[in-house]
Amino acid sequence: MCGIIGYTGKKEAEEIMLDALEVLEYRGYDSAGIAVCGPDGGVRIRKCAGRVKDLRSLCERDGVEGACGIGHTRWATHGGVSDGNAHPHKFGKVTVIHNGIIENYKSLIGKYGLEAELRSQTDSEVAAAVLSHFYSGDPYAAIRKTVLKLKGTFAFGIMFDDIPGAIFAVRNVSPIVIAKTEEGSMMASDVTVLGQYSKDYFVLPEFHVAVLRADGTELYDMSGDAVEPEWLTVSWDVNRSSKGGYPFYMEKEIMEQPEVIRETIEPRIRDDMPDLEGDGIPDSLLSDCSQICVVACGTAMHAGLVGKALMQSLVKIHMDVELASEFMYTDSLVDGKTLVIAISQSGETIDTLEALKYAKRNGAKTLAVVNVKGASIARESDYVIYTNAGPEIAVASTKAYTTQLAVLYLLAGRMAYVRGIFGEKELKEFTSELRKAPAVMQTVLDRREEIHYIARGMLNAKDVFMIGRGLDYSILLEGSLKLKEISYIHSEAYASGELKHGTIALITEDTPVVAVITQDKVQSKEFSNIKEVQSRGAEVILFMKESYRLDQDAVWDSVFKLPAMRDEFMVLPVSAALQLLAYYVSLDKGLDVDKPRNLAKVVTVE
Ligand code: AGP
Repeated sequence: MCGIIGYTGKKEAEEIMLDALEVLEYRGYDSAGIAVCGPDGGVRIRKCAGRVKDLRSLCERDGVEGACGIGHTRWATHGGVSDGNAHPHKFGKVTVIHNGIIENYKSLIGKYGLEAELRSQTDSEVAAAVLSHFYSGDPYAAIRKTVLKLKGTFAFGIMFDDIPGAIFAVRNVSPIVIAKTEEGSMMASDVTVLGQYSKDYFVLPEFHVAVLRADGTELYDMSGDAVEPEWLTVSWDVNRSSKGGYPFYMEKEIMEQPEVIRETIEPRIRDDMPDLEGDGIPDSLLSDCSQICVVACGTAMHAGLVGKALMQSLVKIHMDVELASEFMYTDSLVDGKTLVIAISQSGETIDTLEALKYAKRNGAKTLAVVNVKGASIARESDYVIYTNAGPEIAVASTKAYTTQLAVLYLLAGRMAYVRGIFGEKELKEFTSELRKAPAVMQTVLDRREEIHYIARGMLNAKDVFMIGRGLDYSILLEGSLKLKEISYIHSEAYASGELKHGTIALITEDTPVVAVITQDKVQSKEFSNIKEVQSRGAEVILFMKESYRLDQDAVWDSVFKLPAMRDEFMVLPVSAALQLLAYYVSLDKGLDVDKPRNLAKVVTVE
């Protein structure tokens, strides 16, 4: 939920950290701050409520010199949004930045008698105070003793006044990656920001202490023994971390979808059929399970709903899709014959990570579908398939979602084949249709101004309803979330057949209703449901397969005809259309599309 950065090397730390915090800002943007260790050894802090641009202005007025520093962008969990609650926090000789939640911070305040000394309402300052309590010259001992007292999640960047030039890092669940660059060493919450400085990084193992210095990084386990880092290479083009000339990352990421879907599926197709050997996925994983359960949150969970429809219709296997945050509390029935699929763009969503651990404790085989290489959920799973969406910066997930769908199509096709439901011919036909998706989506993207025009009619809506059946309903759940999270318009997706069982009471004159019709088997029923809302004055915005015929008697406010694919693939072009609809509503409302209020890109708190 927060972004953390650290740099120590030959260059001035202030500018490097301010630039890095701008990239990390998508992780949290309530307040920001940096601490820099000056040439005299003193640590100076600059921090404020507001965006990184406000911090930059503060530094322009009163900058900090030095080649070693730590920085932070905050999404508030404990304590309101204020200068005093912004990170870094200094206590005694210790300066700390923190991402995570210290659950027992109140008991620590009492245990160490901190009430009178604390200047903020944050759990992070308490952690700094405990570190200071244990610090008497040996940083490793102080860190070891402190982490043993903490309950909860943390990623710390730590500086000590009397150890100039060094940054210490330690984590539990919340992520930290560390890179070596030509100008020094860096740590960060995720690799998105490191890619522009270095291709080589490692994920800091939990409960290990890293010491970053200008000439390199040392890694120690909790017993103090040196450990060799497991170096990784940044797997995507750094340029994808920039806006590429678009006004917002979200538009760029929507437009990148045809390309990144190709990059996700093509390397996994051999002889015109899905082949997951390169990902280390044995066919036995797909043939031996008796049920599948997806655990995920938000958009990733919506991808799971599409996966469920695919798996059950194609593979005839029972599939549940569980909200990760509910999974452990609903006595979910998983066992050794269950394949649990954890879907997560960031690979760090703690609800999903904890659900995955619960599934493993109950004997399930686990497969992660993740976008960030080496992320916690990938490392925790038995198997992993990486989506090749590249860095997704906008808080609203778009290309990560459609590349998750692409992976689920590959899995469903392969599973149908290994279970004897598809022969080679059927599988090749299925795969051939999947390979058409990027081009079909491109035709929707090329007509985005039509969708922009439709969006203009929704700017002042108070409530928007979205109705569809089957796969159309699944994709509308995602379309509704997109609209809510970036335009702040209340929206509800409803199975269109269910509307008349209560909610239709809310449909009044000119209520916008977005309807999607792409599934032949329910086409006529969906048109009937549309007439039900039209007869109550709703303003219907219809997205339908181009081959369908409109009822000429009906009054259509907006119709967008979608290029046709096999029904089970239509969610892909529809996704692009609904993403654009939400984007343009937010854009024309003048909102910060990439950083919606109250949200953060990665939710590492439960
Ligand atoms: C969707 O637009 C949101 N960004 C949010 O629902 C997100 O999908 C959810 O928090 C899960 O994140 P993850 O895919 O990184 O686990």
